[in-house]
Amino acid sequence: MRERTEPGSSSPSAARAAGNAVARSADGEDEPGSVRSRKPRRDDLLDVRVIAFDARGRAVGESDGYRVRMRRGIPGSTVRARVLRRRRDLIDAFPLETIVPSPLAVPARCAHVGTCGGCSFQDLDYAAQLEGKLRLVLEAFAGTAPALDLRVDPVLAAPDAFGYRNKMEFSFGSRRYVEHDEPPNAPAGFALGLHARDLFSKVVDVRACAIQAPVADGILASARAIALELGLAPWDAREHTGLLRHLVVRVARATGEVLVSLVTSEDAPGPVGAFAERLLARHGEITTLVHGVNTRAADTAIAESERVLFGPGSIRERLAGLEFAISAGSFFQTNTAAAELLVGLVREAAALAGGEVVWDLYCGTGTLALALAGSARAVVGFEIAPSSIADARANAERNGILNARFVEGDVLAGLSGDLGRPDVVLLDPPRSGLHAKLVPRLAELAPRRIVYVSCNPKAAAIDVARLAACGYTPGRVRPLDLFPHTPHVECVVGLERRG
Ligand SMILES: C[S@@+](CC[C@H](N)C(=O)[O-])C[C@H]1O[C@@H](n2cnc3c(N)ncnc32)[C@H](O)[C@@H]1O
Repeated sequence: MRERTEPGSSSPSAARAAGNAVARSADGEDEPGSVRSRKPRRDDLLDVRVIAFDARGRAVGESDGYRVRMRRGIPGSTVRARVLRRRRDLIDAFPLETIVPSPLAVPARCAHVGTCGGCSFQDLDYAAQLEGKLRLVLEAFAGTAPALDLRVDPVLAAPDAFGYRNKMEFSFGSRRYVEHDEPPNAPAGFALGLHARDLFSKVVDVRACAIQAPVADGILASARAIALELGLAPWDAREHTGLLRHLVVRVARATGEVLVSLVTSEDAPGPVGAFAERLLARHGEITTLVHGVNTRAADTAIAESERVLFGPGSIRERLAGLEFAISAGSFFQTNTAAAELLVGLVREAAALAGGEVVWDLYCGTGTLALALAGSARAVVGFEIAPSSIADARANAERNGILNARFVEGDVLAGLSGDLGRPDVVLLDPPRSGLHAKLVPRLAELAPRRIVYVSCNPKAAAIDVARLAACGYTPGRVRPLDLFPHTPHVECVVGLERRG
C-alpha cells in the first residue's frame, strides 16, 4: 500500500506513527520484575506500555522488546501485568494495575466496565476509539492487499456513543460473576445480564446498560425481580439445566415501541404466563411480548418456536425514510441512527441513476435493497433466513414498494438461477466474508458496480482483493462506527468493473 497524503485519508505508516506517539507519552517508568537478563516466564511481572487494541478488543502493548497482549488496557497507559504464557516474542499477560494512567482514559458510564463482555473500552476517549478502529482497518488492508493502494477514510463516528442499541440480548445464568469488591460469600446463584469477559459460563448481573435504550434498564430490573419472586430457575451454561435462558429487549427509536422476548429451555406455559403477566403489569411501555423456546444446548436467543403472548409480535422502526416491522427473530441493524449513515454510504457508492437492476446479496430484512429501491428500476434481495425474507417482503409491501423481490435460499444457489443480470450488486456478507465460489460467479454476471459492506475488516480486505483480481477496481475504504466501545468497525467499499 503506497503512502498517500490527501487530507482526511490515512496510510499504514501514519497509523504506526500515531501508535508510537501514544506509547511515548507513557515513557519513563522504572522496571520492577524486569526480565531483561532472561526470557520472560509464566508469573513474571512486566510493565507494559499499551499502544493499541486489537480486533477482539484486547490491549496490545510492548515490554522490553516483547509484544504483549492483555484482556484490557487503555492505549497510552503503562500497566503492570503478570505473564500467562510466551510464544516467541509474543506474550499473553494478565493486567494487574495501572502504573501510569493514559491521557486518553475517560470515566466509564457503566459500573460493570472491565468485567462485562458487552463493551471492550467504555473508558477510552471516543476519538481515540475511532483512531484505533482506523488502525485496524489500515492493518487489515495493508496485511492482505498491500498492492491495491487503497485510501482509507477516517472512521465515521456513530451519532450517539451511548444508548445507541435498539436491541440487547441478556442471558439468565445460575453462575453469577462475583465482582471484585463484593464479599466472598455474596449469593451467586442467579444473574441476568451479559456473559463475563473471557468467562463464558458466568453472567454479570447487569443493573444498567449504558449502550441500550434507557427504557430497557427498568425492564431488565423488573425481569430479574419477577424471576426471583416466582422462584424460576436460571439456565446453567455447563449443566444445561434451568428454565430461563434469555431476555431480549428491542426498542424502536422512531416509534418508542418495545418488544420483549423471553426465551426458555422448554415450553412452560404456567410459569411463563405468570412472568409475562407481572412484567406487563409493571411496564405499560411494552407493546409486544413474545415467548420463545430453545431446547438446544447452544447458547443462542434464536428460538426454535415462538408464541406471541401480547401485542402484534413486532415493532415498527423507521430507517432511510421507510417503516420496518421487526419481529423477535429477525435481523435488523442494531444501531438505527448509525445505520442511516451506512445507508448513505451505500447510496453514494451505488451511485444509481434510476434505470439499474440492483441485487442485494445477503439482504437480511431487505434494509439496503428497500432503501435503494426508489432510485433503481428493480431490486432483488437474496437471503437464507426464512424469517428475514418474510419480513423483507412484508416491509416492501408496507412501504408500497413494487419493484422489489426477495429470493429465499443460499446466495450461491440464487445466483445460479435464471434471474437475468444485475447492473449493481450490494454485498453485505456475514463476518466470515464471501463464499469463495461466489466471486467467480459474480465475475461472470459482470455487474458494472459492486458495493461491498462488511463488519470484519480482515474479511473485507480478502474479499476486496479477490474482486480486484476478477476485474474490479476498488475505490476508497469508508469505515463507519456502528458499535461504540467495541472493536467492531463496518467498512463500505465501492468497486467499478474495469474496461
Ligand atoms: C450482515 S447481515 C446483512 C444485513 C442486511 N444487509 C441488512 O442491513 O439488514 C448478513 C445476512 O446474510 C445472511 N446469510 C448468511 N449466509 C447466507 C447465505 N449463504 N446465503 C444467503 N444469505 C446468507 C444472514 O442470514 C444475514 O441476514
